[in-house]
Amino acid sequence: MPRLSLEGGHVLNGTVRVSGAKNAALPILAGTILVEGDSLIENVPNLLDISTMTKMLNALDVVAEPCPEKNILKIRNNRKIRHIAPYDLVTAMRASFFVAGPILARTGYAKVPMPGGCSIGSRPIDIHLTGFKAMGAEIRIEHGFVELKCPKLKGTRMHLDFPSVGATENIMMAATLAQGQTIIENAAREPEIDDLANYLNNAGAQISGIGTSILTINGVPRLSGCTHRVIADRIEAATLLIAGAITGGKVTVEDAIFAHLEPIVQKMQECGVQMDVDVQGNKITVSPSGPLKAVNFETMPFPGFPTDAQAQMMTLLTVSAGTSVVAEKIFENRFMHAEELKRLGANIKIHSDTAIITGVPRLSGAEVKITDLRAGAALILAGLNAEGITTVHGLKHLKRGYENLPEKLTSLGAKIL
Ligand code: EPZ
Repeated sequence: MPRLSLEGGHVLNGTVRVSGAKNAALPILAGTILVEGDSLIENVPNLLDISTMTKMLNALDVVAEPCPEKNILKIRNNRKIRHIAPYDLVTAMRASFFVAGPILARTGYAKVPMPGGCSIGSRPIDIHLTGFKAMGAEIRIEHGFVELKCPKLKGTRMHLDFPSVGATENIMMAATLAQGQTIIENAAREPEIDDLANYLNNAGAQISGIGTSILTINGVPRLSGCTHRVIADRIEAATLLIAGAITGGKVTVEDAIFAHLEPIVQKMQECGVQMDVDVQGNKITVSPSGPLKAVNFETMPFPGFPTDAQAQMMTLLTVSAGTSVVAEKIFENRFMHAEELKRLGANIKIHSDTAIITGVPRLSGAEVKITDLRAGAALILAGLNAEGITTVHGLKHLKRGYENLPEKLTSLGAKIL
């Protein structure tokens, strides 16, 4: 199992640029199934999950040609789309289920394996399926596959039980080619959804209400290829800002879109981190601050504090004076990093969906293992602070969602062995 060792105590200084957002690129790549002709997707991060989605597109006869050195993907969608998504790809990455809506809308029939759960939770798809059903799809679940049938989806008004990111994206994509108007109420408002909607509108879709919890989609007969640049990854930006804060350095993160990072910036400032925001320039700088102090937060749908930054923020709180209370309200099992942080000397107690963190002056190096993508980043941040050597096992998880994170941290002065 690939691992990484780092020596803590080195102050990080300098400037680093954020890569494109994994959670925008993945639904956008699924959305290319809807878009006939050639599309050029730019600022695509080179990640394991992106190559999984690329394989998925090629398996569906959408030709996806990666140019990793330029972070672009050329898409040629000129053939008949296949209906069945391969089992091994969907189970390798839950986001592959985002192809269900596009295949159904394009061809009238989709057969996609149940994505199944992962380490952070059961990850059901009931909200996705309720939306497809409301648009007239006949749904059958058997032998581990979801079969969706509807010659032509019909626009309708629906209210999501929960502002699910994936369900909002899947249903919105299906609605772009439906007959008539679809209104999605209680839609998720994550910036990655706005980015997907902007790509689809560039391709000829008619989506309005972008950025709000009520999305209106007027179906159109077809969508045509275009060029789109993926937004910067707000979770990577948060991770790099916390790297600067936890080592007491001065770090400027470029392509850090303040509107996407507000809840995180505010919580870090409350913790005592000195931060300067250049809104126009999309740059945020953390500078050496006084002693960090405990804060409380709970994870919420956007524009609340994002669950994907919860682990990284918890790491900062392990060395912030006082007692912090963190509630994870999105996923049922997203505190696994806490046990590993305790191996590094953190003082954390978990009570169901709440973590009580009592700050310690400094962590101490140890061997730890990554349980999920964001936990991996949190453990590396802890290693930057910990006295001595920290070895992080299970780097595969990290490569799923962070492009060159060790290299970026080394460029700022981290000592990765
Ligand atoms: C997306 O997952 C992200 N993944 C996740 O990022 C992110 O943590 C999550 O949104 C929340 O922001 C991608 O975009 C590829 P949800 P998604 O549907 O769409 C429940 C990462 O680290 N739910 O908003 O699966 C679900 O159980 C990943 O990059 C239902 O009950 O998240 C969860 O409790 C991890 N029924 C809550 O909603 C459904 O049909 C939020 O899930 C769908 C979801």
